[in-house]
Amino acid sequence: MVDVTVGHGGHSFLFGSRLSAAGTLVGLDVDSKSLERARRRLAPLACRVILLKSNFSQVAECLAALGLREVDFILADLGLCSGQIADSEVGLSFRTDMPLDMRIDASLEVTAADIIRDYDEKSLADLIFEYGQDRASRRIARFIVERREREPITTTGQLAAVVSRALRTPGGKHPARHPATRTFQALRIAVNHELDNLRDLLAAAPGLLRKDGSIAIISFHSLEDGLVKRDFKAREHEGIYRLRTKKPIPPTREEIVANHRARSAKLRIAQKT
Ligand SMILES: C[S@@+](CC[C@H](N)C(=O)[O-])C[C@H]1O[C@@H](n2cnc3c(N)ncnc32)[C@H](O)[C@@H]1O
Repeated sequence: MVDVTVGHGGHSFLFGSRLSAAGTLVGLDVDSKSLERARRRLAPLACRVILLKSNFSQVAECLAALGLREVDFILADLGLCSGQIADSEVGLSFRTDMPLDMRIDASLEVTAADIIRDYDEKSLADLIFEYGQDRASRRIARFIVERREREPITTTGQLAAVVSRALRTPGGKHPARHPATRTFQALRIAVNHELDNLRDLLAAAPGLLRKDGSIAIISFHSLEDGLVKRDFKAREHEGIYRLRTKKPIPPTREEIVANHRARSAKLRIAQKT
């Protein structure tokens, strides 16, 4: 199997525990710190474990380099680990002030601060609308441009304050959803090319799965889930996949209580015919 978002190895440990010494588990992640944790977590497994620092858009190349032509299971748990959001080097949190970076993969070149500095007002508005699905995108973009003319916006705190002001929410309180949530989502998607990576993974999957092998994808927002849903449906239509989930599987109440961030998760599974 290949876990293309191995993270801290939580899912891989559960699946890997079911594999014998004859099984192989390949884990990919773009984040070296996550891979290090996964390496420790998966060390006790009986199966062969191969961990690679790679973007899942390259999953076909990774498996080919390992001499693995086909797999029985592809797992993707999209997004980020909680540790990455709290990591001050990554700069994804609006609750604490951090450099406005957002690169999960440190080898990427363009940061969120670069986008906020370089995009013109219309491009910023389009990005916030398209990837953040925020209807106030034009107003937010205008406030960002006005602000950056006075001083550069280089931290998450500065950006969160500008967006809060644009949306006229009184500061000081911590509402369930911060007003900058959608803007931050938009920048994160753009910085990390999240939707393009997912498209590449979806395109590669049918060629990598053995007959009756499955692909399971957990997504956290409707842009991702929409891509997965349309891809699985189209391939069902072509006779390549059988849908194992007609509707996405949501988390249980217990899961949400144990892990609040799981509340927006959607799991879809397809099986190669
Ligand atoms: C939600 S976490 C996965 C948690 C994992 N399932 C576990 O049980 O610990 C998502 C992980 O995917 C990684 N990631 C995000 N986009 C990626 C991509 N395009 N290619 C490879 N890894 C990616 C992140 O660095 C993060 O470690």
